[in-house]
Amino acid sequence: MPKRFFVKSYGCQMNVYDSARMGDLLRSGGHVETSDPAKADIVILNTCHIRERATEKIFSELGRVREIKSERAAQGHKTQIVVAGCVAQAEGAEIVARQAAVDIVVGPQAYHQLPALLERGNSLPTVALDLAAADKFAQLPLPERADIRARGVCAFVTVQEGCDKFCAFCVVPYTRGTEISRPVSAVFSEIENLVASGVREVTLIGQNVNAYHGVGPDGRTWTLGRLLSRVAKVTGVKRLRYTTSHPLDMDDELIEAHRDVPALMPYLHLPVQSGSDRILARMNRRHDVKAYLRIIDKIRKSRPDIALSSDFIVGFPGETDENFEATLALVREVGFASSFSFKYSARPGTPSAQATDQIDDQVKSERLAILQELLEEQRQAFNQATVGRELDVLFEKPGRHPGQIVGKSPYLQAVHVERRVATIGDLCPVLITSAGPNSLAGRLVEGKAAA
Ligand code: SAH
Ligand code: SF4
Ligand code: F3S
Repeated sequence: MPKRFFVKSYGCQMNVYDSARMGDLLRSGGHVETSDPAKADIVILNTCHIRERATEKIFSELGRVREIKSERAAQGHKTQIVVAGCVAQAEGAEIVARQAAVDIVVGPQAYHQLPALLERGNSLPTVALDLAAADKFAQLPLPERADIRARGVCAFVTVQEGCDKFCAFCVVPYTRGTEISRPVSAVFSEIENLVASGVREVTLIGQNVNAYHGVGPDGRTWTLGRLLSRVAKVTGVKRLRYTTSHPLDMDDELIEAHRDVPALMPYLHLPVQSGSDRILARMNRRHDVKAYLRIIDKIRKSRPDIALSSDFIVGFPGETDENFEATLALVREVGFASSFSFKYSARPGTPSAQATDQIDDQVKSERLAILQELLEEQRQAFNQATVGRELDVLFEKPGRHPGQIVGKSPYLQAVHVERRVATIGDLCPVLITSAGPNSLAGRLVEGKAAA
């Protein structure tokens, strides 16, 4: 019998992608998506475990969903609650112990089993946590044209999943499992399907995407650099991006792709986490500050207009004032267009959670505020510097005011154009006329096609 399902996604872009794939899977079985959990026969929370607060959010949300379930039960409707994603993988059966209303716990590599798990009914909670990602992809249906269109002109495609880096603070290697790469042919068919339905920009995603080493049609192992060049040629996609990368896997082929592949956008998210060699070593990042700066230098030589972004953690165990100052110094030296920064959160099962020199929360908050002020200054300066420049904008959606249309610059900045002279999906040159705190405004350069 067709059912209504509701999916809510937390955490990173891969969860957004996975949620979409779960949706495709359920729709292919005749089920229908709803945006109202109170009307759903199946409620799926696709969860994130990266920091303590992310996990806690899930348990409070589960409390709310449980109430919906009992209200619906009073009206004679059955509701199945599914916990998917990284909390599912990390906490497994404990979730059911903590929240008895949960029917199914399914890990990030097992969600292709969802239809069978739902079918089985729910006299007892079911926990599916196998960790072989390759099987999952082979069993997922490609999305339908109408569903792709509904999601817009920008899409994510997972090409790599899992991580073997084992940074001392991070749960991802345990929740996503060991690193795998999808075969080139699978990536091509997914992107061709998206492009045929109007997608203009594709972001290749992976927990550690530049460790990509998928099997090519020639039987050889392809790097991400090679994959990006061929995807640009074969599929005709207008814009390409990739995220997230680890500095150690930034090889020459990838750096050269930034010079040689016009569709590859001049924007690179390359997390460094800390500017202190001592902390980087304790984080098990396996590179020092000098190595990071060397990579940045190479990338800038290859693509001089590249914009950079990073993730930072403050208050990692043992971080001194001096170590924190070194992070600020690195930020000043590199200059970032945009960044994410977090207070260190001790995660169960990770090596650094056991460290005896944990940093006081007050100190973490102070450091975070100082770092965020500097990063925000740099972001605003970067945005201001685009005023007066002509940037290609890919239009994605209508703006808030009538007639307004919004898109993205090559540097991921939101750009508003007042007069609706372009259509969604158009890639047009725009003269940037002003920079607000969170977006740019501009006007279309008439009579000129985007480069
Ligand atoms: N390589 C991954 C990183 C995932 S986590 C990716 O591709 O996205 C994203 C960011 O969260 C990390 O770069 C790190 O800055 C932050 N993070 C991870 N574990 C953390 C922890 N225990 N406490 C605080 N921040 C953390
Ligand atoms: Fe986590 Fe490090 Fe792997 Fe990124 S590279 S997912 S931070 S272990
Ligand atoms: Fe969170 Fe898992 Fe992504 S822990 S950040 S949802 S890989």
